[in-house]
Amino acid sequence: MSHPLEQLQDDALREIESARDEQALETARVKYLGRSGHVSAWGEQMKTLAQEEKPIVGKLLNEVRITVTGAIESRAQQFRAQKESGALAKIDISLPGTQHEIGALHPLTQILERSIQIFRRMGFALADGPDVEDEWHCFDALNTPPEHPARNEQDTFYLPDGRLLRTHTSTVQIRTMQAAPPPIRVISPGAAYRRDELDATHSPQFHQIEGLYVDKNVSVADLKGTLEFFMRELFGPDTDVQFRPHFFPFTEPSLEVYVKSKALKGGERWIEVAGSGVVHPAVFEQVNKARGDKAYDPDKWSGYAFGLGMDRLAMILFEIPDIRHFSQNDLRFLKQFA
Ligand code: DAH
Repeated sequence: MSHPLEQLQDDALREIESARDEQALETARVKYLGRSGHVSAWGEQMKTLAQEEKPIVGKLLNEVRITVTGAIESRAQQFRAQKESGALAKIDISLPGTQHEIGALHPLTQILERSIQIFRRMGFALADGPDVEDEWHCFDALNTPPEHPARNEQDTFYLPDGRLLRTHTSTVQIRTMQAAPPPIRVISPGAAYRRDELDATHSPQFHQIEGLYVDKNVSVADLKGTLEFFMRELFGPDTDVQFRPHFFPFTEPSLEVYVKSKALKGGERWIEVAGSGVVHPAVFEQVNKARGDKAYDPDKWSGYAFGLGMDRLAMILFEIPDIRHFSQNDLRFLKQFA
């Protein structure tokens, strides 16, 4: 004859098996395992049993509890699985997924990053300076006197407090030398601003990479070697570089840099891409005055500097006919560089 506990277990398992939903299962759980359920009631009854019966019934009761608990858990698992497959059944996996457009870098950013990589390989560190500048960093320190046309209200964006939007990234040359003694080897990519009418080749905001190298015995030869290497890395080995005498207040001698490359469409044409030169001793003297020392003694140190027009470089490299494309955010344009 079976023990009443075994009977109880059979009843419980049958109820669990026939539970049609989670609610019915929960009712069965409370009925058997709940605080005042049948299994718990047997626990209470243990006290009244004879000493020799206790271990036998105790063991049996334990087995019943484990079996019933396990049965409830596996039935609950069945309900969960049913629910999930029901939900999945409503999903048509043959439908095409949601299209997510993957963005791409702006052509100017692309060429900036490539250029930075090339200079980094030559040991140039990155330097930075503010777009909103004071006149001293933009002009005076760069040996550009008050009567110079670049300082004209017609050519530069002035703020009411006398500061201005920097007209070139050469300001970072000064800030770098103020902050650290020579030797210096930095590049500084960034925006520059001029009061130019917006047309196919002019924009009031444009982008430059400034370069500054100060060390012992730096000469025009170092400048030429560096920029030639840079241009050939960027435009390919078939690129010719030409240096033409020019004037900048902050360099002496000053040179404009032209490139011509067979790899480029219309390649048989010299295109101006940078200004450069040997740092003028007057610039070092201005820096010394601001630093209050003689760290940049023009008799001991010399340097070269350059300013690359990045919009121009990108226009040549990607054959972009109009500088306005860079700022119009027209996806038809931008997608061509993705
Ligand atoms: N700052 C000049 C410009 O924007 C470009 C330039 C010329 C930068 C000569 C230099 C330099 O560093 O040495 O037109």
